[in-house]
Amino acid sequence: MCGVIGYTGGGRRDASSILVRGLARLEYRGYDSAGVAVHTGDGIVTRKLAGRVPDLQALLARSPVSGASGIAHTRWATHGAPTTRNAHPHVDCDERIAVVHGHKFRTETDTETLAHLIEDSPGETLEARVIAALELVVGTYGLAVISADEPGKIVVARQGSPVLLGIGDEEFFVASDASAIIEYTRSVVHLDDGDIAVLTPQGYHILDRESHVQLRAVDDVTWDLEAIALGPYAHFMQKEIFEQADTVRGTLRGRLVFDEGVARLNGLNITPDDCAAINRITIVACGTSWHAGLVGRQIIETLAQIPVTVEYASEFRYRRPLAASNTLTIAISQSGETADTLEAMRAARAAGSRVLGIVNVVGSTIARESDGGIYLHAGPEIGVASTKAFTSQIVALALLGVYLGQQRGLPLEARQELLCRLAQLPTLVSRVLALEPHVRRLAEEFVDARNALYLGRGVNFPVALEGALKLKEISYIHAEGYPAAEMKHGPIALIDAEMPVVFLAPHDEVYTKVLSNMQEVRARGGRIIAVTTEGNGDLGGLVDHQLRVPATAPLLSPVLTVIPLQLLAYHIAVLRGCDVDRPRNLAKSVTVE
Ligand code: AGP
Repeated sequence: MCGVIGYTGGGRRDASSILVRGLARLEYRGYDSAGVAVHTGDGIVTRKLAGRVPDLQALLARSPVSGASGIAHTRWATHGAPTTRNAHPHVDCDERIAVVHGHKFRTETDTETLAHLIEDSPGETLEARVIAALELVVGTYGLAVISADEPGKIVVARQGSPVLLGIGDEEFFVASDASAIIEYTRSVVHLDDGDIAVLTPQGYHILDRESHVQLRAVDDVTWDLEAIALGPYAHFMQKEIFEQADTVRGTLRGRLVFDEGVARLNGLNITPDDCAAINRITIVACGTSWHAGLVGRQIIETLAQIPVTVEYASEFRYRRPLAASNTLTIAISQSGETADTLEAMRAARAAGSRVLGIVNVVGSTIARESDGGIYLHAGPEIGVASTKAFTSQIVALALLGVYLGQQRGLPLEARQELLCRLAQLPTLVSRVLALEPHVRRLAEEFVDARNALYLGRGVNFPVALEGALKLKEISYIHAEGYPAAEMKHGPIALIDAEMPVVFLAPHDEVYTKVLSNMQEVRARGGRIIAVTTEGNGDLGGLVDHQLRVPATAPLLSPVLTVIPLQLLAYHIAVLRGCDVDRPRNLAKSVTVE
């Protein structure tokens, strides 16, 4: 949440343009206000405003500022309204210290407080003063500081919020994530909690709070600028929806061993004995990742016969979890930085549980702190509304289900069957994406809806939740997902001719039950959209619209049934003129409680 970037290069390039280009790539982390502070050689000049990065670009065009180093910020407001006054950078009394940070302390104008704290702190160097000031600070942060007295120097501190350094050729960067600097370097250093980094044009070093030098690995970013370019698409969400055949293929790559019926998951770091000892699995996650966890529960319980509970991470962490050594805790997170999921994982570990991470962002905190895990390899997800991560999370959970199932006696044939079905998914996903024109027409019919109900059963109940979340978060239409049978116990009161009802009705063991739920809605005049399986009998008489997806293994059907719902939400939001990639009040990864 919030995006921070900094640059120092000894005059090789103009810091302003690098900072603003980087901010534009970080805007999915928060877009309430933006600002830069540049060391011009004579001192620090700041430019900031409430609004988006393009507004800041326009401000800089009217009153430019240039220099060899600087810091910048795009904000997701927590403390203090999204005003120009509360926009970062914040400076001290004489504007000789400037600070940007992505997080919260416990005072109203926390960042400004920090600038003054550093101003008043003892020390010969900026880093010494920052270290002294942070002694008085409680909370989580990722911050960057510059001083008029030390041109070219940037001091960075991390406590809980993701910060990395970019290592260039006689130029150095700091950023909340690699997307801001990938244009200039692919060599990054992920800072750990408690690290203080000092960047100058001559180099960088990392200290702990006692000013002892720390060594950190330099990692190579595996994706390139193209991965975060919009290409021919109108929005990142649309691009990421259409990437899903490739991203599912990416999650499967090198992990299917058909002959042995094995899912090769080298990063799990779990031995067969460990597996045999597991008697309970707890999945912790938030939002879309929590929905994937619900699908994962059914897959793992079916394939490995291990009881699974799926917990909202934010609730789990304060419930003093009763985990035990034979409990495996799985943290699912696209960003790998969601604070509630990270803390839930830490709480489970503290209670004696082994913890796994199913994560997309390489080098993220959850990935680095878990005992083992599975990377999705779905590439950067920029759209705030998660799409391709969801389908890849389900594929990763299916691979984990086969892996655990193999350790617990799941027959070879059953494993080989599921691996074959997994291998077919990328092709089937492409066929579902071809439904887009049909879904766009449906969107035109439902663009003025005020509410919507999504209903599914079994492994598709979480898809109903996910469909409703997508519509809510990008079109601002109120929507609810429900187990289809649960509808009779209340929500059916909402049904009338105005209420669109989306049913997930793939051909599986509960299909006929879903049909009877459809009849209950039809009897009350509800308008029904059904996502069903090719080759299923014609539902013409029962529903208003049917979207047919190819058949696959019932446990894997959510990978296909969710895509029409992603497209429906996307097109309704576009038709309503919503900012699909930057929906109001949201940010891509929520690194605060
Ligand atoms: C989903 O579209 C949202 N962006 C949000 O619910 C998200 O899934 C949640 O914040 C969890 O994020 P994570 O997967 O990065 O942990």
